[in-house]
Amino acid sequence: MASINIDLARKSGSIDRNIYGGFIEQLGRCVYGGIYEENSPLSDEHGYRKDVMAAVRDLRTPLLRWPGGNFVSGYHWTDGIGPVENRPPQMELAWHSTESNRFGTDEFMDYCRTMNVEPYICVNMGTGTMDEARTWVEYCNGTGNTYWANLRRKNGHEEPYNVKYWGLGNEVYGTWQIGAMTPEDYVKKATEFAKIMKWTDPSIKLVGCGDTGWKDWDDIVIPGLAQYIDYYSLHLYTGSDDYYSNVLAPALADFALESSRAIIDRARYNQKIEHPIYIAYDEWNVWYRKRAAETALEERYNLSDALAVSSFLNSFIRHSDTVKLANLAQMVNVIAPIFTSPEGLFLQTIYHPLRLFAEHMQDIALDIHVESESLPFTQEQDKSPYGFPFASLGPFKILDASATCDASGKTVTIAVVNRHREQDLSTTLKFADNVTIESAYAYEVNGDNPNSENDFEQPNEVSIQEHHLHSGEQDITYTFPAHSLTLLRLQLA
Ligand code: AHR
Ligand code: AHR
Repeated sequence: MASINIDLARKSGSIDRNIYGGFIEQLGRCVYGGIYEENSPLSDEHGYRKDVMAAVRDLRTPLLRWPGGNFVSGYHWTDGIGPVENRPPQMELAWHSTESNRFGTDEFMDYCRTMNVEPYICVNMGTGTMDEARTWVEYCNGTGNTYWANLRRKNGHEEPYNVKYWGLGNEVYGTWQIGAMTPEDYVKKATEFAKIMKWTDPSIKLVGCGDTGWKDWDDIVIPGLAQYIDYYSLHLYTGSDDYYSNVLAPALADFALESSRAIIDRARYNQKIEHPIYIAYDEWNVWYRKRAAETALEERYNLSDALAVSSFLNSFIRHSDTVKLANLAQMVNVIAPIFTSPEGLFLQTIYHPLRLFAEHMQDIALDIHVESESLPFTQEQDKSPYGFPFASLGPFKILDASATCDASGKTVTIAVVNRHREQDLSTTLKFADNVTIESAYAYEVNGDNPNSENDFEQPNEVSIQEHHLHSGEQDITYTFPAHSLTLLRLQLA
């Protein structure tokens, strides 16, 4: 027996819908053959795959990060504008391929406009210069009679794009990155990029490049850039073939958000900074199978991965006062919820939690309390291939949950992952106030076993089941099945 205790007065933050953001990198079949496939019968007249657009629309993606990822650290954006036949193919040294530059800034912006999503551009701080970053801002947002704004107009885009979110480099701390730096060097360089980019357009929001949130890098870069940045980015990938190592690892997201939040609070206090600095979790996902570039990162996801993704989302809801932007890495084919072939697509298991959260979670986070037994998990049981041991972050309750309500307080949605591999768990939802539940729906993501996967032949092994529950009562007792995610959407009288 377990319980979830809900006090509608305990509001813990307002949820920024940008936490449901996506990410596309010029890598493998994410852009070319993913969102963009010229001359395909499945594409529109611009080359955008219509079936992919429909699947992305159902995810209600509000924001899209581009063009990388590691790719951006060798990308010269000017190669990707103007007549397509004049664009130079370039050696691509992040993933060792060739970049044709058929998809560039104007195509990305058209895609964002068509999909009604906010663009978020990460600039090249590897081979790229300060001037390239500055002129990219001018090309996108410039309104005056100046060279780069005029070039945008000449390329057929009279109105400025007003790109609001700009990232100051990608994973600059990593040896795998073109132009990796020490944190001190990054602070110096990013400060100069930040100044000139903001002078070009003072309305933009800048995202400083973070590591996991608990590294020495973060201790140095957060105070070093605090004056200049509006967001600080974190990246986290987890995953393991071992069920419990897989589903429990997103506890690292809670840890990362709490660690980086503390560093931000200290920096803002010590430096008397009045503007907020939020976390942009601008790469996160399960990813451990297809690590090598040769596999084009075409990870196939199972049910246990979908449960891990659900726990990441629960963590973002629980820390909604800190994390105001997040980008699942990535959107199509490359470690992605949507998987295409030239003939069609299927939805991977991880698509379903993303869709349910974006569709049903409301704008206000509630600080709920879960009482359930814990799952035993020790360092020896941690079979994660990543160098981030997490057993010490426990104990881990069987149920991992978050909850939201709308402004009226009458609609409440509770997302619950039952992480137990074998046992269903009967759970009472207890409200602090007298409430009457007028109607209740349950949306469940589950499958035969934690290894169940979707593919082209069996696209619905893991999908969403919807049930209408009995109502008119004060409390609900609900049995969360083993290895499942359930969203309970309650309408209160
Ligand atoms: O999303 C895949 C890669 O993971 C990105 O290119 C990089 O930023 C990270 O290492
Ligand atoms: O797990 C089954 C659910 O538990 C039923 O839908 C609900 O009525 C019960 O509380």
